[in-house]
Amino acid sequence: MRIDIVSIFPDYLEPLRLSLVGKAVEGGVIDLHVHDLRSFAHDRHHTVDDTPYGGGPGMVMSPTPWGEALDCIAGADAAGRPVLIIPTPSGERFTQQAAQQWSRDDWLVFACGRYEGIDTRVMEHYARRSDWAGVREVSLGDYVLAGGEAAALVVIEAVVRLIPGVLGNSASVEDDSFAPGAMEQLLEGPVYTKPPVWRDLSIPEVLLSGHHGKIASWRADQARARTKAHRPDLFR
Ligand code: ADE
Repeated sequence: MRIDIVSIFPDYLEPLRLSLVGKAVEGGVIDLHVHDLRSFAHDRHHTVDDTPYGGGPGMVMSPTPWGEALDCIAGADAAGRPVLIIPTPSGERFTQQAAQQWSRDDWLVFACGRYEGIDTRVMEHYARRSDWAGVREVSLGDYVLAGGEAAALVVIEAVVRLIPGVLGNSASVEDDSFAPGAMEQLLEGPVYTKPPVWRDLSIPEVLLSGHHGKIASWRADQARARTKAHRPDLFR
């Protein structure tokens, strides 16, 4: 999979060189390209923002450098059609389902906005372009970050760990909270490892029983209890 990220803070994306995603990059599973938006702004100060039409606080990111950057990334020699992903608090909610869908795509391009966001015509334009595979504006949740970079890191990690071969044990993906399957819409329950007694706390007896049926049903009960307590909105 190819991943391109455009940002005015390219160093913000350096964590993608670490850990699980870093290994996927090193191993050639991910072809990662980080671009500085300012290199597509040609005035002396490499300006990427301007005042909003209609007035109001803050600054809006200009469509001009964005168009140049995105056209340059998906240029004439491009193989395939990229999906343009724009993290924004006004987007649709990012979910495990979107992560699964994008883990099967060949090419994702992330546009990280700052300030009051990117001029809407950028989204409109690339949604109409037949050489792009669509535009998705996504929000991580009901809070406002200072920019799209931290959100792009989150989305990329959620997507990359689902690519076959990236996680050592693919069964752990199937057990995830929000994964499709038997426990769909339930949060994962508590987990334990050695030692069997830590401080004055021991592990639940059933996990030592070796009885797989009882363990599975205990885990399902725990998942339901946790979902009811932490996410009543998910509980039916
Ligand atoms: N950019 C700023 N806030 C965001 C959020 N909540 N989700 C995604 N991108 C954002």
